[in-house]
Amino acid sequence: MFDLDVNYLKGKKILDCPAGASSFTAELSKYGYNVVATNIFYDNDPDILKKKCKVELSKVMQALSKVEDMYIWKYFRAPAQLKECRMTTYLKFIKHYRREKGNRYIKSELTKFPFTDNEFSLILSSHFLFLYDDRLSYDFHKDSIQEML
Ligand SMILES: C[S@@+](CC[C@H](N)C(=O)[O-])C[C@H]1O[C@@H](n2cnc3c(N)ncnc32)[C@H](O)[C@@H]1O
Repeated sequence: MFDLDVNYLKGKKILDCPAGASSFTAELSKYGYNVVATNIFYDNDPDILKKKCKVELSKVMQALSKVEDMYIWKYFRAPAQLKECRMTTYLKFIKHYRREKGNRYIKSELTKFPFTDNEFSLILSSHFLFLYDDRLSYDFHKDSIQEML
């Protein structure tokens, strides 16, 4: 999605923010990349997060069933495949989070990071900024981007 070049990532310290229940940090760590994930809920117990992931996925699938015809089923061939993929993703996340909570998974709340300036050479952010513009203000967006920079 970010069109990343794996060679470019070598030797870099990367931050995924907010990483949520994605498997990016788990996947990249497996190949030796230096990645840290941050999110507002990373002080939670892994089992609590696992339950939340399950509930959220059910909600997503229910909502999706009403607008299925508005999707282009190309990357995912069918809702069942999307569900399977989402589940695999959050299970990978939980497994890694269980082991690396407080180390590779750091709780933070935008618009303020608990990191030092220039600690990371690359910050990735997906499915967050500009997505919740009904709930998150212009100033929140501006301050979040400023903090990432
Ligand atoms: C839609 S998810 C995206 C997660 C991930 N980047 C992905 O693409 O799968 C948005 C995440 O932002 C987190 N979040 C919401 N407000 C936040 C804040 N102020 N600071 C940090 N994380 C926040 C939520 O908990 C949620 O996990």
